[in-house]
Amino acid sequence: MIYLTRRERFNAAHRLYNPEWDDAKNLRIYGKCSNPNWHGHNYELFVTVKGEVKDKTGYVINLKSLSKLIKEKIVEEIDHKNINIEVPFMKDRIASTENLAKAIWEILNGPVSELGAELHCIKIVETENNFVEYYG
Ligand code: NI
Repeated sequence: MIYLTRRERFNAAHRLYNPEWDDAKNLRIYGKCSNPNWHGHNYELFVTVKGEVKDKTGYVINLKSLSKLIKEKIVEEIDHKNINIEVPFMKDRIASTENLAKAIWEILNGPVSELGAELHCIKIVETENNFVEYYG
């Protein structure tokens, strides 16, 4: 079994905010991450797939195809956007990196299978100190 990872990057704005709470409680729970006027991150997205090497290509997956898939389904939808208000796949979800990783998994899981590999991990680096990994 080979594990293979493609990195893509995007930047986006967000605010950690639970609509069930007022601003004061959001501020108490999330601190400055709940700033009503948003803040942004330069995110790094690592998509790891696994599978066997195909005899005919020597590949687990065609990385060009994987990159194209991630760009079309994820990066185009989120890059230079506000995650809370203009990213369809994050609608009605708190704009945390955890939820972002889960949403991206849901979107890529099927299409990665169609490319002949299995999705293994979605890793998102939000800051140099914080990153999330989701294994489905
Ligand atoms: Ni943030």
